[in-house]
Amino acid sequence: MSMRKPIIIGNWKMNGSMAFAKEFVSELNTLITSKACDIAICPPATLLNTLAEALKNTNIALGAQNVHFEEKGAFTGEISTGMLKECGVKYVILGHSERRKYFADSNADICKKVKSTIAANLIPVLCVGESLKEREEGNTEIHLHTELQECLQGIQHPENIIIAYEPLWAIGTGKTATPQEANETIGFIRRELAKIFSEEIAQKIRILYGGSMNAQNAKSLLDMPEIDGGLIGGVSLIVKDFVSVINSNN
Ligand code: 13P
Repeated sequence: MSMRKPIIIGNWKMNGSMAFAKEFVSELNTLITSKACDIAICPPATLLNTLAEALKNTNIALGAQNVHFEEKGAFTGEISTGMLKECGVKYVILGHSERRKYFADSNADICKKVKSTIAANLIPVLCVGESLKEREEGNTEIHLHTELQECLQGIQHPENIIIAYEPLWAIGTGKTATPQEANETIGFIRRELAKIFSEEIAQKIRILYGGSMNAQNAKSLLDMPEIDGGLIGGVSLIVKDFVSVINSNN
């Protein structure tokens, strides 16, 4: 058993509505029995206020799906860390593969976002993961090495960072990494963190698995010693299944 408290984070991506959010939280809150893990929901930005209100007096925290690295200014369409904090946000997903693929977020941009997020006392959830081609060609480790080096360059206070290992071939595909595969790769990520920071920091950092995690496969993944929780996409919108994932931390 590690010292790290597991965390289950729901990433709603571009889904949900105000009515859905309210209904979801009231149901979720009655169904959760596990106190063994931290829980967060990351809705679209337009639902942050609605969820902040709905999550009052619960143990469920609020997260965002992205942030801009500047504090304010002429950046049409963007949101700053200060704005997220005002909404009651605690966690910020950064470098999600969909941001990298569709919105050209680069490792250099993501690194700036990680720094701004930490400076604002928010917790970054940095996503990394290899493509199917890279895995098949044996390039998983070099991909992760580069991504971690570039996204975490010059980070001063890394203790609270969360890393989410999301192999691209497992996102939204129904194809999960086996528990052994995920555990082995997350172990590799932890060794990389030890090289970038220190062994002590690496032992503190929570590393999650993400990619088609569901009510059926969650327990076998979460039981693995290196896996400190999950970043859940599709299933985080299905309240009963999301609760099963949470409660499998018992
Ligand atoms: P799915 O759980 O839908 O595969 O999505 C994973 C993910 O991208 C979470 O950020």
